[in-house]
Amino acid sequence: MDIIEMKNIKKDYPLGETIVHALRGVDLSVEEGGFISIIGPSGSGKTTLLNIIGCIDTATEGSVKIADEDITALDDKKLTNIRLFKVGFIFQTFNLIPVLNLLENVEFPLLLMKDKSWSRTDIRARAEKCIDDVGLKDFMEHRPAELSGGQRQRVAIARALVTKPQIVLADEPTANLDSETGANILKLMKHLNETENVTFVFSTHDPDVLQYASQVIKIKDGAIVEKAGSERQSRSRQAKGKSAGRGVKGGSRPKGRI
Ligand SMILES: Nc1ncnc2c1ncn2[C@@H]1O[C@H](COP(=O)(O)OP(=O)(O)OP(=O)(O)O)[C@@H](O)[C@H]1O
Ligand SMILES: [Mg+2]
Repeated sequence: MDIIEMKNIKKDYPLGETIVHALRGVDLSVEEGGFISIIGPSGSGKTTLLNIIGCIDTATEGSVKIADEDITALDDKKLTNIRLFKVGFIFQTFNLIPVLNLLENVEFPLLLMKDKSWSRTDIRARAEKCIDDVGLKDFMEHRPAELSGGQRQRVAIARALVTKPQIVLADEPTANLDSETGANILKLMKHLNETENVTFVFSTHDPDVLQYASQVIKIKDGAIVEKAGSERQSRSRQAKGKSAGRGVKGGSRPKGRI
């Protein structure tokens, strides 16, 4: 199943007397369970694309479906709900709340959901599990300032996954990290993609990402110029009982040119 379907997406930003055409007719289908990387030069439209998928921004033209729901014409309240329930975000600068400790930061999206079926104990248990999954069990009481960059990004990953979203969007999640820490973050994301069957879509400038991604989308001047790694490959992997995007080296390595 395609979890994201974008058709002819255009995004214009007014800038003084002129208009910036940030996206110029993007068609994109993302399979459930995929690990999709968006690459392209600065200003090419990567953040704009992620923001539209994540309902942070709306398209000027075109249609977007998330998990079979057409979000193109939804009002603000419904878009907020999709942001809360279906999507998790990881940002380049982590965006943690400095006055909250690690556990409180990760619990925060669950509290925002105001879902009465979650008791306070359930919320705590879920947050603790997600923190354990990213290897930070011993740091629950720490505040973000007491953690390294890589640890902070791990917290952000736990926070993105705590609500059990179907899609996690990450805008240059490794850009503020040294290359070794960045590679570890990508491996962790890939591991969670496989074990939790969460679809990841992330932008990056990191060439190492090619060995992890099930599909690489190259964007330039607001248009997709190359797609590598076919949807058919991941479908046939699923048919063989493996999840889409599985297999780090070799198996799922994009076959086309990047
Ligand atoms: N709020 C805005 N108002 C006006 N123009 C904008 C706005 N946001 C983005 N743009 C423009 O849209 C284009 C795409 O920007 P976007 O941030 O999506 O690029 P990007 O690929 O994420 O770049 P980077 O790699 O530097 O993060 C750029 O020309 C940018 O200047
Ligand atoms: Mg950007």
